[in-house]
Amino acid sequence: MSGGAGRVYLNGEFVRRSDAHLDIEDRGAMFADGAYEVVRYFGGRGFALGKHADRLRESLAAIRIEPPGDVERFAGVSDELVACNGLADAELYWQVTRGSGPRGHLFVAGARATVLVIAYPSRALVVGGEPKGVVVVLREDLRWHRCSIKSLMLLANVLAKNEAHEAGADEAILHRDEVVTEGTSTSVFVVRGGELWTHPADQWILGGITRAIVLDVARAEGMVVRERAFTTHELLTANEVMITGTTTYLAGVLRADDAVIGGGQVGPVTRRLHAGLVGRIAGECGLGG
Ligand SMILES: Cc1ncc(COP(=O)(O)O)c(C=O)c1O
Repeated sequence: MSGGAGRVYLNGEFVRRSDAHLDIEDRGAMFADGAYEVVRYFGGRGFALGKHADRLRESLAAIRIEPPGDVERFAGVSDELVACNGLADAELYWQVTRGSGPRGHLFVAGARATVLVIAYPSRALVVGGEPKGVVVVLREDLRWHRCSIKSLMLLANVLAKNEAHEAGADEAILHRDEVVTEGTSTSVFVVRGGELWTHPADQWILGGITRAIVLDVARAEGMVVRERAFTTHELLTANEVMITGTTTYLAGVLRADDAVIGGGQVGPVTRRLHAGLVGRIAGECGLGG
């Protein structure tokens, strides 16, 4: 994401960015006490907005924040923010915190949730384009035990992503005791023996929306799909490895640490699933091929 556009949505109002102010005691800043979503717009239409709104409600329920009315109007608020910024291709960041009050671990009685939405201009979808090839590093997963919540608490992800960047890689793939969980902002798939494997959507990973769509595409194409955990060794010796996410779409992993994957080329299953995913986005957003 690069610099945000002119207007943002803050607690029910569309205001100029320079007029948007958060309280210095907002619990989002002090405790990462909140949840977030990132959604994409293509040609002025939002993709999978209902799924993102549902996941935001689930994250908020899991951390005991009553979803504010704005979340019920997720699609309407998002559409209006994209339109009032004159954008067609955009990335929207939704953040809901427990509100503000004197700093203390206990919830603040009567605090009202803070809702902030920022629209960032982004690239248009290239229909018929090739999947990107990426390089990853493997890192210990140092996050908490409730990774299915899309919590604001991203420090472990931020540190691992920066380690990847410093190593000249695009993403860090995380593992717990050699069991691969996911990337810092992506879901991870491997192809082994003609089967597609990805970690089950349990407490150890975020249930990625792109992950679910890719699983659906794979099943529709008759592939054998297994939601099962796999080891770093199984990843390093896989025929193909891919990562998926709202901002990544679906990219093929060409190298992980020192291991070259699939001869250093994006493989055929990765290409097929990428084409299927792009087709779903283009279909839902009414974009021609
Ligand atoms: C930890 C983590 N895993 C996976 C994903 C991919 O999820 P989605 O496909 O819903 O963007 C993200 C997205 O930000 C993430 O932060």
